[in-house]
Amino acid sequence: MITLKRLKLEDIEYFSKWWRDPVLRKLTSGVLKPISDQEIKKYFKGMLAHKLEHHFLILLNQKKAIGHIAFRGRKDKSCETQIIIGEEKYWGKGYGTKAIKLGLKEISRYNYKKIYLKVRPENLRAIKTYKKCGFRAIGLKRYPKNKFLPVVLKMSLDLRDKDI
Ligand SMILES: CC(C)(COP(=O)(O)OP(=O)(O)OC[C@H]1O[C@@H](n2cnc3c(N)ncnc32)[C@H](O)[C@@H]1OP(=O)(O)O)[C@@H](O)C(=O)NCCC(=O)NCCS
Repeated sequence: MITLKRLKLEDIEYFSKWWRDPVLRKLTSGVLKPISDQEIKKYFKGMLAHKLEHHFLILLNQKKAIGHIAFRGRKDKSCETQIIIGEEKYWGKGYGTKAIKLGLKEISRYNYKKIYLKVRPENLRAIKTYKKCGFRAIGLKRYPKNKFLPVVLKMSLDLRDKDI
């Protein structure tokens, strides 16, 4: 069973592992430069302190932390989501789909109208998962100066169209 729990400071241990994992980094930012404990702490604390961000730990059977889902609000009533399931053995079991659906329910009280996300066009597992949750592709965005992530597929979900 998948549930979500609001992220707390003591959960940083999971992030020290996930943010350093080369497999996850290749699928997300693409940046493989080593990160220090201090950088992890600073970024993690900043994330929790941000007023417009909602962060959840993804739990399997209410105890095993298997991933993280974030919703980063913007002032225009839209928000951007990001998800990682931290270990490959938990991929492809429906957990990501469930976590996104639960996350959308959690944030429905904040009156966001649109949820956006960016994904590498070659990350077909993620794209399939997002489509199953109601996201639609809206186009490619290129970042020619970013050698680690030169192009992303943008997807969106209109919460007003969705019965969650
Ligand atoms: C992306 C991610 C969150 C998806 O969660 P998940 O639990 O693995 O996904 P689900 O099991 O819910 O759904 C995966 C779907 O993709 C399909 N799939 C798996 N591999 C695929 C591939 N190579 N090509 C196309 N579809 C694929 C599965 O069959 C499943 O669809 P189905 O239910 O119709 O059979 C998770 O795999 C993950 O965190 N991966 C590593 C980090 C990452 O890529 N994060 C996203 C960055 S944008």
